[in-house]
Amino acid sequence: MPADKRNRSILITNALPYANGPLHLGHMVGFMQADIWARFQKIRGHTVTFVGGDDQHGTPIMLGAEKQGITPQQLIDNTEAQHRESLQGFSIGLDNFTGTHHAENQRLSTEIYSTLKERGHIDVRIIKQAFDEEKGMFLPDRYVKGTCPKCKSADQYGDNCEVCGTTYDTTDLIDPYSVLSGKPPIEKESEHYFFKVSEFESMLSNWKDSGALQPEIANKISEWFESGLIDWDISRDNPYWGFEIPDAPGKYFYVWLDAPIGYMASHKIHCDKTGDDWASYWQYGHSQKSGTELYHFIGKDIVRFHTLFWPAMLEAAGYRKPSAVFVHGFLTVDGAKMSKSRGTFIKAETYLKHLNPEYLRYYFAAKLSNNVVDMDLNLDDFSARVNSDVVGKMVNIASRCAGFIVKRFDGMLAIESAAPELHLEFANAAEAIAARYENREFSQAMREIMALADKANQFIDEHKPWILIKDESRLDEVQQVCTAGLNAFRSLCIYLKPVLPNLVSDAEAFLNTRELTWDDLQTPLLNHKINKFKPLMTRVESDAIENMIEESKESLEEISTLDPDSPLAKDPISDEISFDEFAKIDLRIAKIVKAEHVDGADKLLQLTLDIGGETRNVFAGIKSAYQPEELEGKLTVMVANLAARKMRFGLSEGMVLAAGPGGSDLFILSPDDGAEPGMRVK
Ligand code: MSP
Ligand code: ZN
Repeated sequence: MPADKRNRSILITNALPYANGPLHLGHMVGFMQADIWARFQKIRGHTVTFVGGDDQHGTPIMLGAEKQGITPQQLIDNTEAQHRESLQGFSIGLDNFTGTHHAENQRLSTEIYSTLKERGHIDVRIIKQAFDEEKGMFLPDRYVKGTCPKCKSADQYGDNCEVCGTTYDTTDLIDPYSVLSGKPPIEKESEHYFFKVSEFESMLSNWKDSGALQPEIANKISEWFESGLIDWDISRDNPYWGFEIPDAPGKYFYVWLDAPIGYMASHKIHCDKTGDDWASYWQYGHSQKSGTELYHFIGKDIVRFHTLFWPAMLEAAGYRKPSAVFVHGFLTVDGAKMSKSRGTFIKAETYLKHLNPEYLRYYFAAKLSNNVVDMDLNLDDFSARVNSDVVGKMVNIASRCAGFIVKRFDGMLAIESAAPELHLEFANAAEAIAARYENREFSQAMREIMALADKANQFIDEHKPWILIKDESRLDEVQQVCTAGLNAFRSLCIYLKPVLPNLVSDAEAFLNTRELTWDDLQTPLLNHKINKFKPLMTRVESDAIENMIEESKESLEEISTLDPDSPLAKDPISDEISFDEFAKIDLRIAKIVKAEHVDGADKLLQLTLDIGGETRNVFAGIKSAYQPEELEGKLTVMVANLAARKMRFGLSEGMVLAAGPGGSDLFILSPDDGAEPGMRVK
């Protein structure tokens, strides 16, 4: 019997991804870790709620929308739809997904802030800050650049130098400029609101040692205590995209104030739908009485927000603190930071186009532990591991046994298994494996589960049903051996259900059972009719991986300044170009002499352009709007002096101009009355 037979009520969150770009595989680390843990708790019979949403406020979203020519509301709506699709694609079983711009979050944020203020935890202070006069806004640190005061490297951020690593104040930069206008910022005073975190030092110190944190995180916090807790600036001045602070016109909550409150709001919206008791999870006394548990999964870059500011805010406003904050490391791909040019900055949606999501779920599980170290996605290791473990060991057991049962025994499992001791061994591993899951030692859990799979395969190898079947007198034995094999497979399914929900759900259909639970490990499936076996998972194809990487490279080439995830949007530079820069652009009328599809490209057509005696090869992302045949012989306008770029399909020597919203509404053709290839345009 599981040790914790008592029913636990567990609320789980994963960090809310910023709404300024698509999800990538780095984001999926936390989502998968949280989802596997949530599914594990569910299969153990506990009451689990897993909520999330997008983090929808802040300067990058405001400026990103401006760049795209849409409202922030449109931007966050578009992103939310994209994020939902990616999360569903990876079977992240969120019970609710609501972004932080929701009215419920405004209500809660306002309420919490008002309580903090009433209780005297908010201070108003005048601070000096960099201000962009042309843009009319205060500049966050990352929006001021200049020359490093120490090593004199140009174009360094306002807080630290990426070349020599020195940290300094924005005011120390030599020749500072605003990345929005390029102009030097001025210093301007403004009133800011501060949350007095320092008042909560002793509470935080107790909480830090209460077992709520991993040892390396608790140490980190001790270091912060030693250098002294600094009060937290929670307001931003107009223009800002966020919630306005009550009784403070023109002032907004800093995005990080209402972001974690988004966990509460998302859960509230869930409870309003289901009738669950929100207060029993959040209100201080109520949660203590009901023994509900609250866990946040986050990455290592946002620890301070979740382990200092957030618990202090909760405490100050009369809410419970998290039972634990689980911090994971960062994902690298093939040993290096994800890179757009190498094609290892892989978006969730790109992965899903090429590969089975459960490959990655298994791979992450096989690598995740409960510490904060970074995790590498090594693509060779990825295929090898998935092919050998899931396909080669686990699924193989079913495919070796199912055929005999279905064909020779009309789908009936034997009344007795040939290996009750094997079944017992599998069942006896249950508590050890559960403890691994509970402690988030997923890699260790996978190792122990695969060791069991090895035993099941050995058992089948020893009994060789494919030989026994030739001997009519030993048919009962075949049925019993295969029954043992299929029961081993069924136990593996239970163990891996948190990691491979789709595969196991297909297996449940094949085994003709209701949803498997942890308790089913104790009772074998005997004298029971199963269904025909269909392959549950195919091997990872190396072509699919290559295509995914190639497509991730292509998306770099297609990244425009409008892409909110491009470095430009996080680190925006001015849109303006000078007249001289404009004059440099050589625009020419070009005749499309040939237009062809490009093998393996979703968006590109290959154009051969005549600009008056000279031909150019250009790849244009216009496949959604034109058939090649309709272009041949027509005129267009091209940038003729653009530096040639090597693309994966060949060299692109220029660019054609297109107008329109995109998709099928994209227009590249120039009217041809009187125009000649090679003519200058301007
Ligand atoms: N919006 C904040 C979180 C607010 S929580 C109230 C944020 N967003 S984020 O989009 O930048 O990151 C979301 C989560 O993804 C964070 O937990 C972050 O640590 C994680 N990761 C982002 N890139 C990652 C990797 N390359 N690897 C692993 N996790 C990464 O922070
Ligand atoms: Zn420097």
